[in-house]
Amino acid sequence: APSPLIDRFARRITYLRLSVTDRCDLRCAYCMPERMEFLPKAEVLTLEELHRLSLHFIARGVRKIRLTGGEPLVRRDMIDLVRALGRKLGDGLDELTMTTNGTRLAEFADDLAVAGVKRINVSLDTLDRQAFAKLSRRDMLPQVLEGIAAAKAAGLKVKINAVALKDINEAELPSLIEWAHGAGHDMTLIEVMPLGEIEGDRFDHYLPLDAVRRDLEKRWTLTDSTASSGGPARYVDIAETGGRLGFITPLTSNFCAGCNRVRVTATGQLYMCLGGEGRVDLRAALRSDDPDGALSECFARAMGEKQERHSFVIDKPGGAPAVSRHMSTTGG
Ligand code: GTP
Ligand code: 5AD
Ligand code: SF4
Repeated sequence: APSPLIDRFARRITYLRLSVTDRCDLRCAYCMPERMEFLPKAEVLTLEELHRLSLHFIARGVRKIRLTGGEPLVRRDMIDLVRALGRKLGDGLDELTMTTNGTRLAEFADDLAVAGVKRINVSLDTLDRQAFAKLSRRDMLPQVLEGIAAAKAAGLKVKINAVALKDINEAELPSLIEWAHGAGHDMTLIEVMPLGEIEGDRFDHYLPLDAVRRDLEKRWTLTDSTASSGGPARYVDIAETGGRLGFITPLTSNFCAGCNRVRVTATGQLYMCLGGEGRVDLRAALRSDDPDGALSECFARAMGEKQERHSFVIDKPGGAPAVSRHMSTTGG
């Protein structure tokens, strides 16, 4: 049987984050510029290629696939991929999930649930309509809230992701957490990462989560939780809200030692790390005369090259991004 994917640091890769499109219907200011240049559609993998590639990863021991973007649900045919991969659940795949901005979730929530998706992550940084419109440069908060409600109604477990941003949602974080927990959703806070050029300076809004945690501790009782979703988040339970809160701290507390994941972009580039330039071209392998052999070589090379850790810093104004790719290209 094909061997599992294990890197030089003995980390076993069981989790694939697969970007199905780099396009997005929002333009979150910390993520991308207003005039974002997207990849030519001709370069993007077909649905059939995405499916075939996923099967190769599953054969090599990947047990969890998270579909990402850009915004995965702006790709019209993507629900067919969800259905196809849903058939691998219980047959190689333990979990099929998605990270979405929620704008089109109302339309797709039922289909996702029927295909076997159990949990999804929805990005939501603020509940204030004007603040949302300013931050994402699109006035779509009502659609997102509708999408989250539809997901809940469809029986999906929803985790809310918020990037913590000084002067933007910092003051609102407690009420955002209360809202999420009140609605029965777990929530995760994320430190902004220096990925790709944007119009502003991420330094202006960078908020270290150790400070946020200290602040929340003045208000609530936080207890470290052993809960883990298999990702980088460290969780606490909050007694007063009755909910769970995760901290994703790529800057203040590196979690790379436990990394179990790789990422594939919509054009089939395998990135071994969110914070590195190292990549392997799976599209060329898929389209070669001997895809099986070529992909095996790609996987071997990737495992030999996966870097030990990312090193993100945001410590002064005008700092350069760690990598030129935006989160929306790598898929988070
Ligand atoms: P689970 O897979 O359920 O643990 O969810 P998750 O929180 O890992 O996934 P999600 O797509 O919700 O990601 C939340 C944030 O964590 C995004 O901003 C991701 O880019 C970031 N993130 C996820 N994995 C990594 C990682 O390996 N390294 C870094 N630096 N950030 C990551
Ligand atoms: N730093 C941190 N998080 C980011 N996201 C997008 N760009 C960045 C960035 N530069 C977040 C989104 C979403 C997740 C997939 O990534 O808000 O929650
Ligand atoms: Fe789109 Fe997500 Fe980037 Fe916002 S953070 S612009 S929703 S890809």
